[in-house]
Amino acid sequence: AGNRTFTMIKPDAFEAGNSGAILKMIEEAGFKIVAMKATRLTQELAGKFYAVHSERPFYADLCKYMSSGPIVAAILEKDNAVEDFRTLIGATNPANAAEGTIRKIFAKSIEANAVHGSDSDENAAIEGSFFFNQYERVI
Ligand code: CMP
Repeated sequence: AGNRTFTMIKPDAFEAGNSGAILKMIEEAGFKIVAMKATRLTQELAGKFYAVHSERPFYADLCKYMSSGPIVAAILEKDNAVEDFRTLIGATNPANAAEGTIRKIFAKSIEANAVHGSDSDENAAIEGSFFFNQYERVI
């Protein structure tokens, strides 16, 4: 057991064929995959997922980008999941991400930054429920 976080492998990383390498890093860091799927967001769904950023200047571009191609959505489990996952992925802007982090290795820009990671336990639960119903979250 442990607690949970939510991640997406974003369109840039999916399109580049980096999903497998990213999932390998996630598993090697001790995260268990609880639920996972490849899917694609519409612009409207991306807008709902990122509603918390709706007043930000980058919101419209972000919604376009996040609906531009397939993604992988996954619920992950580990002790201290939210914080440990944010450490594993590195800073939002890959220019500021630490060596060896997923974003340092795979991100193309501050927007096309390879992966998403929840920023709190509360948001992890909300974001996981956005993509997975109760029957898909039973592990
Ligand atoms: P994520 O961690 O998924 O949360 C919000 C996303 O918005 C972020 O990753 C980036 O993809 C994007 N983002 C955050 N800040 C900026 C910015 N300053 N310019 C463009 N995109 C951003």
